[in-house]
Amino acid sequence: MIKKFLLALLAFTQAILAAQDPQGQLLQVVETFRHGARYRIYNSSYPDNNQINYGELTAEGQRMHYVLGVTLQQNYANRLNFPQTYDHTFLYAKSTNVNRTIMSAYSQLAGMFPLNKGLSVENTVEQFKIPPFYPQLAHVNEEIYALAGGQQPIPIHVKEQKDEKQLLGYMDACQNAKQWSKNNKDDSDWNRIKGEFQPLIDKLANDKYFELPANPDLDLISELVDTLVAIKWAGDTDKNNEIEVHIDGFNLPLDEMINPINFNTMWVQMNLLYTIQLHLALFKTQQQKKTSVTPFFNELLAYFNNYLNANDSNPYFKWIMLSAHDTTIAMVAQGLNLTSWQCMELVKNQNFVSNPSSPCIYTYPGFASNIIFELYEDANKKPYVKALYNGTEQPLCGTADTFCYLDQLAQSISYSIVSDFDEECGNPIYVSSPDSSSTPTWAIVVIVVVSVLFLGALGYIFFQRRKILSLQSINRNSSYSQI
Ligand SMILES: *[C@@H]1O[C@H](CO)[C@@H](O)[C@H](O)[C@H]1NC(C)=O
Ligand SMILES: *[C@@H]1O[C@H](CO)[C@@H](O)[C@H](O)[C@H]1NC(C)=O
Ligand SMILES: *[C@@H]1O[C@H](CO)[C@@H](O)[C@H](O)[C@H]1NC(C)=O
Ligand SMILES: *[C@@H]1O[C@H](CO)[C@@H](O)[C@H](O)[C@H]1NC(C)=O
Ligand SMILES: *[C@@H]1O[C@H](CO)[C@@H](O)[C@H](O)[C@H]1NC(C)=O
Repeated sequence: MIKKFLLALLAFTQAILAAQDPQGQLLQVVETFRHGARYRIYNSSYPDNNQINYGELTAEGQRMHYVLGVTLQQNYANRLNFPQTYDHTFLYAKSTNVNRTIMSAYSQLAGMFPLNKGLSVENTVEQFKIPPFYPQLAHVNEEIYALAGGQQPIPIHVKEQKDEKQLLGYMDACQNAKQWSKNNKDDSDWNRIKGEFQPLIDKLANDKYFELPANPDLDLISELVDTLVAIKWAGDTDKNNEIEVHIDGFNLPLDEMINPINFNTMWVQMNLLYTIQLHLALFKTQQQKKTSVTPFFNELLAYFNNYLNANDSNPYFKWIMLSAHDTTIAMVAQGLNLTSWQCMELVKNQNFVSNPSSPCIYTYPGFASNIIFELYEDANKKPYVKALYNGTEQPLCGTADTFCYLDQLAQSISYSIVSDFDEECGNPIYVSSPDSSSTPTWAIVVIVVVSVLFLGALGYIFFQRRKILSLQSINRNSSYSQI
């Protein structure tokens, strides 16, 4: 009781002492988000013989990102001088190499860079506007724009999964990551937390409706929740009502799910299990927490510094878009100290005491969840940063403040990352892919061979020349230019 009172007092003092927002000028935005609604990806329970499109983005998923794109464009139009026509110096878009994330980025960009704002074809000479294709070209009914309706094509960059360290630092890009996750599943924390959820797990396992295998672990229940979320988002009312008969609270609207009075409903508890399981598997140990987010944070600081070091003749992007996954959002959120499995276990047992400077996000990073970093400069041109989760400003740098000066942020981040990602991951010495700018091995071989031949040729010329010179010393009158 006294402890709770003291913590509440601390929170209150912190709120009073919270520094004033510097109200500076916005310079740059870096956003990362989860793809929109998708079809199910697991088949380990609740099988569906008619399921198609495993893992692909749904129409609703496209719409989510389209709406987010329109919203962001409106929010930032003035503050960031957001162009309505795509400009390659303004924005850089990147996605993981997965259909649903590439398509989510595409959908969001369609919202940011609308129809009827694409480039128009100014050239009036017909022959310069058509492709070579004989004998006959299709007739296109667009007179003004390059593309029908003034659409805007925008490049979305993608790397192979194993090279995608920034967004998937907890997966293929880190060789040790699989083993780390496996280790977590045998330990006492995992078993204790499983025990805390055992009544819920038993209830689900005993209901034949879900077709769960015997003795399901946290993983299997997570996969079931994942499947049910995909089904819920498809919005088939009859189907969802059928599931609600088995899961109390399944049809709760999103804002009701975080209402404390619903905390003990079955569906809210299933979602809590789903979130804790993600962190227990991927972001459990200090090593996992720090290693996974290292490339992301290093890139983030590089984006800020590149922007601050840029000038008119050498501009840098004002907008960086990074299209990724639930696990990416969880990775960044834990890297910012906004959540952890430890605080979620306290939430589960209703022992968590909230405090503005150490929050605990315990809801799952659902479809289209997003974290946005904003870089500002204050009146003295000192750069500072804000971070928004789903549009809401979050406390940063161990304070209750929703902003943090860049030097301070870099300092805080340095305690949340490792010094060498590849070493920590046991990655083999990085062999660059052909699109990388570092020198490939074959080029080094060519350079060495050419150099040896060159030196050989030089040596040959040198000896020839000495021969000639010594001949000359015999005939001192011959002209030097003959050599
Ligand atoms: C999922 O399970 C259903 C029914 O058992 C089966 O028809 C389908 O092929 C499975 N799909 C995948 C991707 O495993
Ligand atoms: C993604 O799209 C490709 C075609 O671009 C398709 O062949 C593939 O099945 C899709 N799904 C996955 C999971 O790769
Ligand atoms: C602009 O930035 C580039 C690269 O940092 C630098 O080389 C150049 O001198 C700068 N130009 C001006 C006018 O400051
Ligand atoms: C963010 O939005 C997603 C999708 O609606 C939701 O699942 C998640 O709980 C939200 N998280 C926060 C911290 O607002
Ligand atoms: C997260 O918390 C740890 C421990 O208090 C701290 O050392 C680190 O700097 C924090 N990281 C960030 C990004 O604020």
